[in-house]
Amino acid sequence: MPTNTHILLSVLYISIFFNSLKALSSEPNTLALSCGNKDGGTDDDSRKWESDSKYLVSSDKSVEVVAQTQDPSLTSSIPYMNARIFTSETTYKFTVNESSRYFLRLHFYPSSYPNFNTTNSYFSVVADKVTLLNNFSASIAAQALTQAYIMKEFSLAPLNTDSLSVRFKPSDKYNGTFAFVNGIELIPSPNLFDSASMVGFDDQPLDVTSANVQTMWRLNVGGQYIPSTNDSSGLARSWYDDSPYIFGAASGVTSEAANNVTIQYRNFSASIAPVDVYRTSRQMGLDGNVTRNFNLTWIFQVDANFTYLVRLHFCEYELNKINERVFDIFINNQTAMKNADVIAWSSKKDVPFYKDYAIYVPDGPGDEMLWLALWPDNSMRPHYLDAILNGLEIFKLSDANSNLAGPNPTISDMMQKQLVENTNKTFSTDEAKKIYTTALIGGAAGGAVAFAFVAAMFIGYKRKQMLSGGDTHTSSWLPIYSSSQASVSKSTISGKSPGSTHISSDAASNCRFFSLAEIKQATKNFDESYVIGVGGFGKVYKGVIDGNTKVAIKRSNPSSEQGVNEFETEIEMLSKLRHRHLVSLIGFCEENNEMVLVYDYMGHGTLREHLYKNNKITLSWKQRLEICIGAARGLHYLHTGAKYTIIHRDVKTTNILLDESWVAKVSDFGLSKTGPNMNQGHVSTVVKGSFGYLDPEYFRRQQLTEKSDVYSFGVVLFEVVCARPALNPSLPKEQVSLADWALRCQRKGTLEDLIDPHLKGKINPECLKKFAECAEKCLADHGTDRPSMGDVLWNLESALQLEENPDGSAKPTSSGSGSVDYDQPREIDQKNILAMHRNTLSLGSEHDIKDLDDETDDIFSQIVNPKGR
Ligand SMILES: *[C@@H]1O[C@H](CO)[C@@H](O)[C@H](O)[C@H]1NC(C)=O
Ligand SMILES: *[C@@H]1O[C@H](CO)[C@@H](O)[C@H](O)[C@H]1NC(C)=O
Ligand SMILES: *[C@@H]1O[C@H](CO)[C@@H](O)[C@H](O)[C@H]1NC(C)=O
Ligand SMILES: *[C@@H]1O[C@H](CO)[C@@H](O)[C@H](O)[C@H]1NC(C)=O
Ligand SMILES: *[C@@H]1O[C@H](CO)[C@@H](O)[C@H](O)[C@H]1NC(C)=O
Ligand SMILES: *[C@@H]1O[C@H](CO)[C@@H](O)[C@H](O)[C@H]1NC(C)=O
Ligand SMILES: *[C@@H]1O[C@H](CO)[C@@H](O)[C@H](O)[C@H]1NC(C)=O
Ligand SMILES: *[C@@H]1O[C@H](CO)[C@@H](O)[C@H](O)[C@H]1NC(C)=O
Ligand SMILES: *[C@@H]1O[C@H](CO)[C@@H](O)[C@H](O)[C@H]1NC(C)=O
Ligand SMILES: *[C@@H]1O[C@H](CO)[C@@H](O)[C@H](O)[C@H]1NC(C)=O
Ligand SMILES: *[C@@H]1O[C@H](CO)[C@@H](O)[C@H](O)[C@H]1NC(C)=O
Repeated sequence: MPTNTHILLSVLYISIFFNSLKALSSEPNTLALSCGNKDGGTDDDSRKWESDSKYLVSSDKSVEVVAQTQDPSLTSSIPYMNARIFTSETTYKFTVNESSRYFLRLHFYPSSYPNFNTTNSYFSVVADKVTLLNNFSASIAAQALTQAYIMKEFSLAPLNTDSLSVRFKPSDKYNGTFAFVNGIELIPSPNLFDSASMVGFDDQPLDVTSANVQTMWRLNVGGQYIPSTNDSSGLARSWYDDSPYIFGAASGVTSEAANNVTIQYRNFSASIAPVDVYRTSRQMGLDGNVTRNFNLTWIFQVDANFTYLVRLHFCEYELNKINERVFDIFINNQTAMKNADVIAWSSKKDVPFYKDYAIYVPDGPGDEMLWLALWPDNSMRPHYLDAILNGLEIFKLSDANSNLAGPNPTISDMMQKQLVENTNKTFSTDEAKKIYTTALIGGAAGGAVAFAFVAAMFIGYKRKQMLSGGDTHTSSWLPIYSSSQASVSKSTISGKSPGSTHISSDAASNCRFFSLAEIKQATKNFDESYVIGVGGFGKVYKGVIDGNTKVAIKRSNPSSEQGVNEFETEIEMLSKLRHRHLVSLIGFCEENNEMVLVYDYMGHGTLREHLYKNNKITLSWKQRLEICIGAARGLHYLHTGAKYTIIHRDVKTTNILLDESWVAKVSDFGLSKTGPNMNQGHVSTVVKGSFGYLDPEYFRRQQLTEKSDVYSFGVVLFEVVCARPALNPSLPKEQVSLADWALRCQRKGTLEDLIDPHLKGKINPECLKKFAECAEKCLADHGTDRPSMGDVLWNLESALQLEENPDGSAKPTSSGSGSVDYDQPREIDQKNILAMHRNTLSLGSEHDIKDLDDETDDIFSQIVNPKGR
């Protein structure tokens, strides 16, 4: 039954794609040759294959044959059923564009042909000067992969000549051996390679522009098989499911972009990978207590003595801010990247990005494996402890002798045993799965023993690394604006210290250095009509940089002596802090006595102006709650998230800004202090801050703790619900200070009278009660009696829940069509996750099985017994 459905589906499938296929075959210069087939033909995907004979330099040393049996798993009889057999060395010649890269695909069907038994076939293939295969046995490779046919894909660098020769040569180590091939594809491709960073050599770039490579794996991570007909730019690549390569039981969760998400290529063209790759991803899961305890790991069996290019494809289609999902990337247990943040790279939601890493795999005892692991990095206190990957490609780079060939795969004992048993009884599905998995992991079938020695290039990097010495372990901060692949122009990125300032090189390297000319251009020479605010520090202008990025530009008042310190404090602080609820500093300019800070543009301005200033749109109660929660998150991060506790010292409604989507961001760190040490508990300092928000205890004792921020935030909470300024001198004396007046009303139970008329009757009483109690506690006289910012956050979140679900029944949030709603409390269905993990349980190799079971149980027990929530 299932088989019938399959066939039906395939037929449907094929007819659906008929059109795109036609487009494919009409690509100029694209060659598809059905070898040993005089007439050529059309395959089941409607792709045209022509005869190979006119490309042969001499055809007298080859024989055209037809296979005696067609394996049921063959997708199409073209090009597999016909073969050209070479009994001695024979060459194909193709006319090519001398400056274009080419995909060369070789198809082999190691069946039996009249008078030729392919188990006896060992041969080499050389393209121009590059050895692609050596002592290659298609028969052994197919057996190891449990596949009927083998396809090998290579990407050849531009040749600088207009003719490409591909030479087939039977091995001279065996008697009566021969070479054969069933299909050849030659497809011009854009230049897909640029440079990769060498893992373990701190960002030493390896130039791969002119590398000849073999594709080892191409996976649509977290998604399904993408047939060659659905690839982008007519490159006819197939993308496979990644689940067989996942190590252990911890396979995370898969996710798919919502239907209304449009993937936008900005950093490169769609030829890198089709949209379907970026629309699906694998992530670690929802529970931080589980995700932090395992690595999401893929393993691949590779040939030793080669450098591999590991290309990771990313696209963040759920989150849109930096520092929400931050993770480390390990390759072969070495750190390839710390604090990877997809949004920071791509600069935008729905925009694909890829990263290339190169790693050399030396020879060692046993099979060589390539491990890729992702692990959530908590050092930046990201919003979620999670990681994401959308696609993965692994390429083998040719070595110093222009060789790409590796040894034939060995068929493991376990597999041999299973294969023998197979001849006697049918597989149980479990066994089949084991074999399938082992075969896939060992998928690097190919050529002969490589005699090549360690690539000279690799030693070169080692030496370079030693010479550069020193600062290799400086903190690797979020590479937002220093990433060489960010979309900003390279020339303006500051790696150097900008001269006269006292800004640490660390801070300077984390943000961008603008020239005064750039700033003037962005603000039309500080045009007054661009002013969006004026503060003690100076004026704030709106501006546009890099063509269309809106920014806020804060220009210091040159006469203010105070300005210099605050300017520097702000750069030092903000350059180290990245959080969804903190305003991001993009960069700064210090030139000709001008001190200018450049920030993210906050489309909706300050919180204050939406409460009572002007007559702007009135915020709903829920919006106000959400804004308070956001601001509380930002402050909580300042207090606990960074290396040191940071006290803001000037929390007020004009320092809480709102972006285009009404996300609250805490701003203005000019007065911030890094404080208190464990033993001291407070920072002695000159009293600063804004009246109306000032912590009385701080005022009395001149000692600053993070509870001073909590006090100010309490004032903000009352301001939000009452919609009146913290200080209003025009009111009767007892009402001038909002903090005093609101506290008095709250204690008398008359707060109702104070609340914003726009909100009257629109707040759930339970929610208001919770909210007011929280604000009241923040205003406690003694800091020690005030809640921590974390408690405030918790209380506000429960207030929001009371508003949303008045009856107290927290409804589980459904994750819809696979996309996770991150702004709701995450509910997980333990049973489902468990089932999912068991389902995709895959095995590495025979001796991994035991260890794996232990690890599996560990992870399961964490999932089953998460310690509270
Ligand atoms: C050859 O390839 C280069 C780079 O891909 C391209 O710019 C050029 O137009 C091609 N020339 C021909 C004759 O197709
Ligand atoms: C091909 O050769 C192998 C080993 O030489 C042998 O076991 C096998 O039976 C042969 N197959 C055919 C179809 O002759
Ligand atoms: C090939 O055959 C010749 C004679 O038939 C024999 O002398 C030689 O040893 C064989 N070589 C190999 C590698 O089997
Ligand atoms: C291939 O592309 C077609 C048309 O774009 C789409 O309908 C189909 O679902 C795709 N198939 C796969 C397996 O992605
Ligand atoms: C896409 O759809 C989701 C719900 O399916 C919705 O929440 C979201 O706002 C939509 N996004 C856009 C850009 O329309
Ligand atoms: C990486 O670590 C794992 C587990 O510790 C180990 O089994 C594996 O052999 C290591 N891989 C490499 C390439 O060192
Ligand atoms: C993840 O892998 C890295 C590199 O192999 C290792 O250092 C780290 O301890 C692993 N983390 C966990 C939670 O296993
Ligand atoms: C060729 O491959 C076979 C099968 O893997 C292997 O046994 C043999 O040693 C190889 N020969 C050479 C010369 O590398
Ligand atoms: C398979 O069957 C054959 C004969 O039926 C028997 O001799 C052989 O031992 C069996 N092999 C296994 C692995 O059971
Ligand atoms: C890798 O290189 C070493 C040193 O040249 C050599 O001894 C070893 O056989 C090579 N391994 C493979 C799999 O080619
Ligand atoms: C994670 O573990 C910590 C400490 O065991 C616990 O306080 C917290 O509630 C847990 N969080 C979740 C979401 O389970």
